[in-house]
Amino acid sequence: MKRIILTLTLFLFTLNGFAGEGMWLPFLLQQINETEMRSMGLKITPEDIYSVKEGSLKDAVLIFGGGCTGEVISSQGLVLTNHHCGYGTVNALSSVENDYLTDGFFAKAQNGEIPCPGLSVRFIRNIIPVTDKILDFPASMKEEDKADYIQDRLTVLQEDQESKTNYEVFIRPFFSGNEYYMFLVERFTDVRLVAYPPNGVGKFGGDTDNWAWPRHTGDFGMFRIYADKNNNAADYSPENKPYSPPRHLKVNVGGLQKGDFTMVYGFPGRTSEYLTSDGLNETMNVLDPARIKIREKRLQIMEADMKLSKSNFIKYASKQARVANYYKKWQGELAGLKLNDAVSKKQREEAKFMQWVNQSPERRTKYGRIISDLKAIYESQASDYLQYEYIRECLKASEQIMSASLGIGMLKAMKNGESLDKYPQLLYNQIAGINPETDEKITHALYAMYQDKFGMHEKTNIPQINAVYDASIFRDTSILSNLIHTKDTYKIAKMIQEDPAFETYRFITQENDRIIPMLRKNRGELDALYKNYIQGLREFSSKPLYPDANSTLRLAYGKVEGLDPQDGMSYSYYTTLGGAVRKRNPEVEEFNMPKRLVDLYEGQDFGRYGIDHKGRKDVPVCFLASNHTTGGNSGSPVLNAYGELIGLNFDRIWEGTMSDIYYDINLCRNISVDIRYVLFLVDKFGGATWIVDEMDLVGRHVDSGIIGEAGDIPNKLIKKRKKRRRY
Ligand code: ARG
Ligand code: GLU
Repeated sequence: MKRIILTLTLFLFTLNGFAGEGMWLPFLLQQINETEMRSMGLKITPEDIYSVKEGSLKDAVLIFGGGCTGEVISSQGLVLTNHHCGYGTVNALSSVENDYLTDGFFAKAQNGEIPCPGLSVRFIRNIIPVTDKILDFPASMKEEDKADYIQDRLTVLQEDQESKTNYEVFIRPFFSGNEYYMFLVERFTDVRLVAYPPNGVGKFGGDTDNWAWPRHTGDFGMFRIYADKNNNAADYSPENKPYSPPRHLKVNVGGLQKGDFTMVYGFPGRTSEYLTSDGLNETMNVLDPARIKIREKRLQIMEADMKLSKSNFIKYASKQARVANYYKKWQGELAGLKLNDAVSKKQREEAKFMQWVNQSPERRTKYGRIISDLKAIYESQASDYLQYEYIRECLKASEQIMSASLGIGMLKAMKNGESLDKYPQLLYNQIAGINPETDEKITHALYAMYQDKFGMHEKTNIPQINAVYDASIFRDTSILSNLIHTKDTYKIAKMIQEDPAFETYRFITQENDRIIPMLRKNRGELDALYKNYIQGLREFSSKPLYPDANSTLRLAYGKVEGLDPQDGMSYSYYTTLGGAVRKRNPEVEEFNMPKRLVDLYEGQDFGRYGIDHKGRKDVPVCFLASNHTTGGNSGSPVLNAYGELIGLNFDRIWEGTMSDIYYDINLCRNISVDIRYVLFLVDKFGGATWIVDEMDLVGRHVDSGIIGEAGDIPNKLIKKRKKRRRY
């Protein structure tokens, strides 16, 4: 009997399990996920992971810069994130003399850390459900007035909260607007660079290996948060002190094994898991192919020019990485969706949903037309949407033309009798990072692509573009500065109005203004339909659904595991430094690993970070796990069953890049850097042992309880794991 019950529970469990899929709300784990997480190995409580009370794991996780995740890994505000998340910042700190991208940077001591103007990190201090306060429509309210009502409520609630706290406040819709949550956010703006490996390590494998397995990238960087003498957030000051956070992560160097429970805690940006088959068609047939084609051209030009000089390389390094990243991602997404026939699968799911809908007249009234209404909108917006993408990807790719947007501000300033003194500096900020020849080539090529598709126009044709680079007042700060010094407002206004870059810039905004209202109207209708659709799906589904990613704090969980991507092919779950060394190729920039790292490998001095691998000593580099992640999860901590740091998330595998739209546990894996590789690089490669010394290291593997390969950690560094409650 006992056996039957056991089998039955297991069976029920698999039915209700999520098996790696989902980016869950951290404050609902107890209701939705705890049972499954525990059965997979979780050893701490949902309260340990997320609590409004200070000191849960959430207080160690942060938004890094504009859209990555980072985590605090010492009591002195040390932050770990990805190399590619710090790339723009470090690119801006670099010069031909101090090229931190090519040479790396490891501070010798805390006072050698480099301030990073413009960089900030943000912690989520509280999350408050506010659905009732937003969707509390008066009974008499007409459907068409609801969107405005919501907008008003959002503003009022936000302003009200802001007046009551020092935190930043934002409110986001979840489940397409069926729920709303408010976030209280603490921002720190004095953030400094601590450790950053050279491209040959942190970007090893480059675009060739990006979005792919096997992977050997040491994709990490370290920063430090500084605060004022009362430990409060403050702008940069030499007097500031390292921030003492309410919680930092312990770092586990005891290693990982296949099947180990893992969690990824971070800020996934955007997914569309509930897109209908027609929405999917739009992405696959209209948007992705166009974006790929345009970026291919842009990259060809950029990459050829980056090879011409070191200064060009530094100007374009970060831009190239950004453009190349999604260029490749869309190809993986497209290939995966096609190969797996995602459209038919979605159609079958929709058919099941409709079957359920048709079972009752009430459901039929509520949900009967959603899918066909959505289809109609997708069809009607296809060409506008495509043009919008072309404007974004082609016309706005010209940095010189976009810099003429300053003309708008100048005209306004003159009308208001304000000074124009700041404009030469603003222009400098926009154009210092371009090489005019490269920008001109890109502009010619991409504007031609736009004209091919949407017709010739005198503001985008060849003579106009030539004039931009030969004669625009925005091509040189001293030209602009001289003009401003004339103080002749009539002349300045005329020069701006007749400037070729300004004219083309105006054309771009006009085109956008023409299309955007239509897209916005469609977007409003799409939103309303999706809100309804997701409500229907939640009633229909036998298990709780997770909301699409929206750059808010989420927890994904899964386990360390490889994958069989194709018949007869198998991915093991980790890679090693030995493998990286064998991939090395000094002839090819992407695979040009620093000789120092090769020497370290040959010297086999791996200390506490080494493992036995195929009869040889080695260092683990990257590993695969089945956590559901997306862009924005870069830099997220990968935690073990105790909530200790074992890795740093940075990518997904090629076969599963479609997971933003269609998740399949048999194809999707996230890629992380093994924390032992990070420490090995800081300690042995960067010679910055002092940084490792400030961390709380834990030296045992989750299951074995013995101090394994980490045996030579000095005792003072090993913190005993607190006895946990048993379940
Ligand atoms: N694919 C990863 C992500 O989406 C890493 C990108 C950085 N590397 C690059 N070659 N651009 O961010
Ligand atoms: N590299 C991505 C990022 O910047 C994470 C990889 C992914 O999209 O899964 O967030």
